[in-house]
This record gives sequence, C-alpha cells and structure tokens, in this order.
Amino acid sequence: MTNDTPTAIEPAPNAGFVQTPKVRRTVNRALRYIRAGYPVHFRGPAGTGKTTLALHVAACLKRPVALIHGDEEFTTSDLVGGEHGYHFRKVVDNFISRVKKTEEDMTKRWVDNRLTVACKLGFTLVYDEYTRSPPEANNILLSILQDRIMDIPLGDGDQDPYLKVHPDFTAVFTSNPEEYAGVHRSQDALRDRMITIDLDHYDHDTEAAIVHAKSKLPKHDCETIVRIMRQLRDSGKCEYEPTIRSALMIAKTLKVEALTIARSNGFFREICQDIFSSQTSRVGSKTNQNVVKEHVGLLIETALSSGIGAPAKEPANSRTARARGEELS
Ligand SMILES: Nc1ncnc2c1ncn2[C@@H]1O[C@H](COP(=O)(O)OP(=O)(O)OP(=O)(O)O)[C@@H](O)[C@H]1O
Ligand SMILES: [Mg+2]
Repeated sequence: MTNDTPTAIEPAPNAGFVQTPKVRRTVNRALRYIRAGYPVHFRGPAGTGKTTLALHVAACLKRPVALIHGDEEFTTSDLVGGEHGYHFRKVVDNFISRVKKTEEDMTKRWVDNRLTVACKLGFTLVYDEYTRSPPEANNILLSILQDRIMDIPLGDGDQDPYLKVHPDFTAVFTSNPEEYAGVHRSQDALRDRMITIDLDHYDHDTEAAIVHAKSKLPKHDCETIVRIMRQLRDSGKCEYEPTIRSALMIAKTLKVEALTIARSNGFFREICQDIFSSQTSRVGSKTNQNVVKEHVGLLIETALSSGIGAPAKEPANSRTARARGEELS
C-alpha cells in the first residue's frame, strides 16, 4: 500500500472559540470519555455548535485531525481508500545502439483515504454528520471502535487485510437527529459504541458571548439580537427554530456597515425581518413568513421600548428558562 501524504489538519485551538461555563463543562465531559477510551458523539439540532465543539475537542487532544463530512453518496471505499489509479512504468533499453528494447508494465495503485490514514497513524477522526452516509458505508467503523481492528475490504493483496488501529486513534462524531431518516440497525450499532452527548441551543449568555466574539458588535447590541431570536424560538410560531446563525448574520451585517442598533435608522428592523422570516420558514411558505414577520416586528418594538441591551426577563415557563434550570442543576 502506498502512503500518500496524509490529509490532516494540524490541531490548534481556535482563538475565536467561546468557552462559557456551559461550554467548558461539555468539553471536559467529552475529554474524560475520550481518555476512558470511548469515542464521543455530539448530537443535536442545526446550529447547536456540534461541529465547532467536535473540532475544539479534537484540537485539545493535540493529534493531527482527519475530517470527514458524511455524504449520502459515500461508499466504504470513500472512507477507507481504494485502487484509484495506475502506476505506469516504461523502461527503454538502448544499450546496444542497433537494438532498442522497451518494457512496459502497469499496476493498480492503492490510495488510502482519511479513515485508513487516521487508523494507521493515530490521528483524531472528526466525522461530521456521520448519519448522512449510508449505514453500509459506515459498517467498517464497527470493528474499528469495538476491537480496534480495521478490516480493509479492498486491500492490495500485498498486505494483511486487517490493520491494527494505532493506540492514539480516537473519533469524535456529530449528527443531527432530524436527519436520522428511517431506522438503520447498523447506525444504531455504531451509536452503541460511542458516548452520545445531546446538545440543545446554548443558554442566553453563551449565545450572546458567541455572537459578540464573532461579530465584534457591542455586547449590549448582541444581547438584544439574541434576546429577540430566543423569544422567537420560544414563541412556537416558526416552522424551523431560528439558530445562532441568524443572530450572527444580523450582528455581522450591522458591524460591517459600522452601525449599531440605535444608529441603524430602520435597517435593523429590515435585516431582522429578512433573516428571521426566511430562516424559519420552508421555501415558499409565505403564510409562515408573514406570521414570523409580524411577530418579529412585535419583539423588536418590545426590545427597543424596554431599552436597547437592557437585560430582559424571560418567561419562567420558556424552553430557554428550562434549559437554564437544567444547567444550574
Ligand atoms: N463555542 C463556540 N465558540 C464560537 N463560536 C461558536 C461556538 N459554538 C458555535 N459557534 C458558532 O455558531 C455557529 C453554529 O455552530 P456549528 O456550525 O458548530 O453548529 P452545528 O450544530 O454543527 O450546526 P449544523 O447542524 O447546521 O451543522 C457557527 O458559526 C459557529 O462558529
Ligand atoms: Mg455542523
């Protein structure tokens, strides 16, 4: 087997990674499970920080990282490798000037893919959205995680088809339960071999800290945007819950235009309407967009009249408040 240059990311902690107590606790738990020898799986809805956490945890392990994004077209060889090309050799022997002897041969060339490279060299595998790949493609991971043996299905014949997994190899998975279509026994078997940490949207302070860190908009403006987003999320009026990405889009747009909410002269209302109504409705769902627009309008008026950036109390029975309660327990 040839050892092509491994595709790996050098792990370096991301300077923009926000660590509030809630985030730190999740990271520490994941690192403990990994130290105990278990792969970790971050599972949660869109925008709950799964990929960011997985990459941060991988960076904490200080090993090179092999990153794979799940794909419905994947086959096992996309993970493991295969005979992806030919090695062509031609020898021209002109030793005796009147006699020209040529010899040609062509051999198939095995190329390792990222999973094999990670298993051989002890990298950290980050398999983002692994449930998007067909379960048959992921079956190869069962023996890797359980017995630390990789069964190379298309080995080049020169080598033992079983590869002993490097002791430093570990894996961090992410998935979105909403994309977990149908019941796949083998995905369940895989999930049984990892420790799953269920994630939900972060608490208000963490979301506001992330939006502030990534947009550099003044903190009180970030808090106002996050508060409107969370109230919309709790309102039950959206087909899809707004994620932190919508708050980031609003904050970054204001920042790039060198505006604050107070100095945006109506632009703030317009971006909120555009972003929140499109992000929370199905394509073409005009009715929902109008309902959301109307509600966003109300939330903005309430936020602005209660004083921009002033901390507002969330209703005691809101999902957000419950999340906060869980966090304190
Ligand atoms: N701890 C954090 N520090 C800084 N930024 C963060 C943090 N957590 C999440 N973010 C930011 O929030 C946004 C959403 O995070 P991320 O992409 O990790 O979510 P996800 O759960 O993987 O979403 P999806 O399911 O859509 O893939 C990104 O812009 C990310 O940079
Ligand atoms: Mg992601």
